[in-house]
Amino acid sequence: MKVTVVGAGNVGATCAQLVAEKNIVKEVVLIDIKEGLSEGKALDLWQTAPVNQYHTRLVGYTNDYSKTAHSEVVVITSGVPRKPGMSRDDLISINAGIVKSVTENIVKYSPKAKIIIVSNPLDVMTYAAFTAARKPKNEVMGMAGILDTARYRAFLAEALDVSPLDIQALLMGGHGDTMVPLPRYTTIAGIPVTEFIGSEELDAIIERTKKGGGELVNLMGTSAWYAPGAAAAQMVEAIVADQKRIFPCCVKLDGEYGLQDIFVGVPVKLGKDGVEKIIEVDLNEEERELLHHSAGAVKNVMEILDKMHIL
Ligand code: LAC
Repeated sequence: MKVTVVGAGNVGATCAQLVAEKNIVKEVVLIDIKEGLSEGKALDLWQTAPVNQYHTRLVGYTNDYSKTAHSEVVVITSGVPRKPGMSRDDLISINAGIVKSVTENIVKYSPKAKIIIVSNPLDVMTYAAFTAARKPKNEVMGMAGILDTARYRAFLAEALDVSPLDIQALLMGGHGDTMVPLPRYTTIAGIPVTEFIGSEELDAIIERTKKGGGELVNLMGTSAWYAPGAAAAQMVEAIVADQKRIFPCCVKLDGEYGLQDIFVGVPVKLGKDGVEKIIEVDLNEEERELLHHSAGAVKNVMEILDKMHIL
């Protein structure tokens, strides 16, 4: 079984490393447009196999998509970050063009692959990949919810001085400031979070979660990669090992939650067929309003992209 990671930057390399360490596939292919980068990173990572005790073969290629043929799952991390002087629209058009061409190349050699998008702006790039792939909607999904939920859970674990393993949480909506963490669906070992924390402190954690990506950009001068890479690797594992895990992922909605033709994060079941089920949980009026607000923000950017006629 083969998994391909497109983009050998920090997120892609971290994802490839973690998938390899899980020992769940025979081969991980890393591919990048920069000459030698994926070959080098794959070789360096492969040399950790004897030390970190895994069998997965890691290989890298420069832009040769024939080497990705018959991949079970493909993670797309390609794209450029925003540079000074660049507008948000510039970023959208550049990354949509990249995601489109990468997706077309992937589908050419692995028509049955499940595709996981990590490129930003996440929800709109998932839309771009879905449009370019011309595949059933259960086979194209975006990674954001696991990352955002992980940040929320980590902040809660720290504040409550409990193990992050005991914190279960749900977060919905787009991957941005409008994301919707749901305290009503947050528990510590099955106990509602509100038994542990006051609303003011919880609100502060929710606000920090929403800006979690930006906090890291400010600290490091570039986007995060350990948690994004780990979150994407967890989705890969759920699919290749047919785990039927429930995660928040960005998917196309066709009426669920009263939303149509839009890509946002909702809880789904991940297994060998990709997104095997979209789970509709009961939302109260306030939560539903927040989700619709977040979906509206994504829709605006989807419409900006549509007007560019790139897809
Ligand atoms: C973040 C970027 C990777 O949230 O979207 O850190």
